[in-house]
Amino acid sequence: MNDRKFINLLRNHSETLLIITDENDRIIDANAESIDKLGIVLEEQRCIQDIYCDPGLRKMVKNNVLSEGKPVRQETLLKCKFGIILTCLEYSFGENDKGEFKLYSIFIDVSDYIDFSINTNKLNLEIMEAHKRLNELYSTMAQQEKLASIGTLAAGIAHEINNPIGYIKSNNISMGKYNNLIVDQCKRFRAGGSMSEEDLGRLSFALEDMKSIIVENEQGISQIASITSELKQFARQSDIQEIEEYDLNEAINHTLTISRNKYKHIAEIELSFGDLPLIQCFGSSVNQVILNLIINASQAIEGQAQHSMGTIRITTSFNTDTDNIAFILEDSGPGVPENIISKIFNPFFTTKDIGSGTGLGLSICSDIITQKHQGKIWYEQSPLGGAQFTFTLPKRFRNA
Ligand SMILES: Nc1ncnc2c1ncn2[C@@H]1O[C@H](COP(=O)(O)OP(=O)(O)O)[C@@H](O)[C@H]1O
Ligand SMILES: [Mg+2]
Repeated sequence: MNDRKFINLLRNHSETLLIITDENDRIIDANAESIDKLGIVLEEQRCIQDIYCDPGLRKMVKNNVLSEGKPVRQETLLKCKFGIILTCLEYSFGENDKGEFKLYSIFIDVSDYIDFSINTNKLNLEIMEAHKRLNELYSTMAQQEKLASIGTLAAGIAHEINNPIGYIKSNNISMGKYNNLIVDQCKRFRAGGSMSEEDLGRLSFALEDMKSIIVENEQGISQIASITSELKQFARQSDIQEIEEYDLNEAINHTLTISRNKYKHIAEIELSFGDLPLIQCFGSSVNQVILNLIINASQAIEGQAQHSMGTIRITTSFNTDTDNIAFILEDSGPGVPENIISKIFNPFFTTKDIGSGTGLGLSICSDIITQKHQGKIWYEQSPLGGAQFTFTLPKRFRNA
């Protein structure tokens, strides 16, 4: 199609403005759409610069077309009737029409698209803002989830310590009584009194019982000491927020000791530890993952309300080809129903009652393993019948 045919086509085209100017930039012709939208009166032969929001831009168009003979493509703002501004894509070119220079300017009105993209931008900003607020809420809730699991631990630890403290206390009362008995007998003996067969029997029973009380108390005290030292270890690691050389097997043992109260009446623990190298990671965060998975497994088994003990099996291994260590925790609970598997790592997704689940445990695990450590975590069904969660971590820490 030649230019003329094309221009004739545009004359009646309703969404495109066509304006023809002479070498002095006077409007000598325009299509119906331009006349209508821009309020052009052909007889007035107005200067086209008047309808440009930036007349300087029009001067540039003319110069380019005249001096370089090249068409101009640009975005142009045009003044319409009633003070409306049109955003247009402009295509201007020159032509020599029987010795007369003419400049053809075609404007395509894209105002609607610009409005659309301004609205989209506004919407994007609102989405970003909402996303930011959600992130803030998430980190507050994550902190609460962490506090909640620490709270669960604290309650469990109090219970674990209370038991030995209970019998040490009652042993102490017996010791006091035996002590009184011995002191009485000594006094009587010093005063020249004799010891009856019955007294002798009581005394030897007291001395025998004191021996076993001392053994029992020693056991209790060392139990308390080991719990507090594990707790100290856990707390120390919670304070460390830097990369450390981490022994996963040892960390599993610590975490199992301090969370014992959560599973001891619910499940037997089976451990199958591989030979692992130390890995570089944020130890306290990985401890948090192990703890969350143990708590979830115990809750799942407990929810089944079976009378016999369930099983939690933890397996670790090292893959020399990939230089990754793997942690697998399986349980004999009901497993995750097929239709919610894709949601369990989502923040706030929970199937537990309000108050007993925040729905953040697994999403925190996923954050720690994948975002913080470039590892992987996933769910599958365990041969034990319940859930199986696996995470892998690189031996060497890699930044995101
Ligand atoms: N070991 C498991 N066995 C069965 N379902 C599980 C197990 N662990 C997690 N789930 C499912 O995943 C959901 C999300 O877990 P989580 O993010 O820890 O939140 P919460 O424990 O607060 O519900 C749980 O509500 C539960 O439905
Ligand atoms: Mg949980």
